[in-house]
Amino acid sequence: MRQPLSATPSRTSSADPVTPDPAQTTLPPQVSPPTFSLTTEPLTAAAGPVLVALPVLPADGAEAPAVGPGAADVADQLGLDLLAVLEAHRATGRAGEVTTHPVPDHDRVTAVLLVGVGDTGDDALRRAGAALGRATKDRDLVASSVASVAGDSGLHAFVIGLTLGSFEFHWRSSGPVAQPVRRVLLAGAPDRQPTVDAAVAVAAAGWRARALAATPSNLKSPAWLADRAVEVAQASGLACTVWDEKRLTKEGFGGILAVGRASATPPRLIRLDYRPRRARGHVVLVGKGITFDTGGLSIKPGEAMVNMKRDMTGGAVVIATMGALAELGCPVRVTGLVAAAENAIGGDAYRPGDVVRHFGGRTTEVTNTDAEGRVVLADALAYAVQELSPDALVDVATLTGAMKVALGLRTGGLFADHDVLATALEEAGRASGERLWRMPLNADYEEKLASKVADADNAPGGPGAITAALFLQHFTGDVPWAHLDIASVGDAPEDRDEWTAGPTGFGVRALLHWLSGADPLAGLR
Ligand code: BES
Ligand code: MN
Ligand code: ZN
Repeated sequence: MRQPLSATPSRTSSADPVTPDPAQTTLPPQVSPPTFSLTTEPLTAAAGPVLVALPVLPADGAEAPAVGPGAADVADQLGLDLLAVLEAHRATGRAGEVTTHPVPDHDRVTAVLLVGVGDTGDDALRRAGAALGRATKDRDLVASSVASVAGDSGLHAFVIGLTLGSFEFHWRSSGPVAQPVRRVLLAGAPDRQPTVDAAVAVAAAGWRARALAATPSNLKSPAWLADRAVEVAQASGLACTVWDEKRLTKEGFGGILAVGRASATPPRLIRLDYRPRRARGHVVLVGKGITFDTGGLSIKPGEAMVNMKRDMTGGAVVIATMGALAELGCPVRVTGLVAAAENAIGGDAYRPGDVVRHFGGRTTEVTNTDAEGRVVLADALAYAVQELSPDALVDVATLTGAMKVALGLRTGGLFADHDVLATALEEAGRASGERLWRMPLNADYEEKLASKVADADNAPGGPGAITAALFLQHFTGDVPWAHLDIASVGDAPEDRDEWTAGPTGFGVRALLHWLSGADPLAGLR
């Protein structure tokens, strides 16, 4: 039986991380993303064994598909008629198509990969990168001129696609472990190095968010998540503060405490601080960090619970985004907050009918314990407004299943009470390949939030994604606020382009695109 909240439970301090299942503390061999370097040498000159990847441009009118930069060297060195090869394989140049042409007799080059680049736009290059990543699993080296058909944004998209498309994570004890290609040699001059470095930082952040979300909840407690945040902070020079349940109690974070109280692994609030010199304003990011969502006493059916280890995806997105800001030279101060709790079941669980008091004093009647995300986010949003007075506030959460019905599984929901902020995020989503669709914060549904005994009801009925957003809005004060409901896109049902089946880390790329721009807060200060 769990102790009351006022007592000091035995496994609590973040210095003594909770190890929920001691038999499983050994982590599997880590799968790492590929490394990238640039070369101005011909690709066939790379020390082998090497796969050489060339871009294929689609047929344009009467013209047949064509092989792009690097073709002459390959034709010359390997004695290949590439147009004949294209024709033999019926390559079309469609983005995402990869044709592998083995080269049996060469001492270094083992195959030529012909990679479709479509219209050579960023989306096409990202897709081409992902396809090449999949086609080169378990290889040591690929030398590629694929992105040479594009400018810097295409190269950036290509590197991200290649990295994320080869994401792997598992704990199988035997059988083949598919590793991403170890090294990628990119055709290009040294002046493209900053573009490659920035893309690698974004891709690594996406990779990290996926890995955190993929970790099962017998390993992943709130304290475990806090420890990962501390690691990220140390690696990227951020300050990190973790509230344990004692401090949460003392400071009145009633929502986080209520949701987390039935769990053997108590809740945490995690704060990461990025403070550049001469910051041009202040953004706060808030992530939902539910390390497992059983639904609580309003329990989920088994089927609906299966992927709920990933209900901390918003928190993972915030942690991973924070870790890349310094490397990307983000010009604004950014504070990341993750409200981390396990929504578990037990004699001490919060109940339907309970009234919780959030940080700052607003109260909520809990009519459904499965609407826990908004209950923990409310505390963190109120803390952000009261203690940090930011210029903009953005939360990221796998908040409502209704989002899947509204938008399907490829588009994230965006709610905002400020048009400039909404437009900036929409544009960042479009450019980075994480599409967001703006949803209405329709005040007509406001009356549904009414409760007889508290300031609001946590489960006021449909339209579910909208009423959830309206619930959150009450905690955002006068600060321009956007809410990303990523329940529709946190999980990919299958491998597709840069998404791999399982967690997507959705939000990292859009947020980093926004925050690494020249002035993310233009029109918002
Ligand atoms: N974590 C879920 C939302 C979710 C569902 C995320 C499916 C990813 C995939 C959230 O906590 C939840 O249970 N929401 C309820 C709210 C309802 C009880 C008002 C929902 O959407 O059904
Ligand atoms: Mn829930
Ligand atoms: Zn949830």
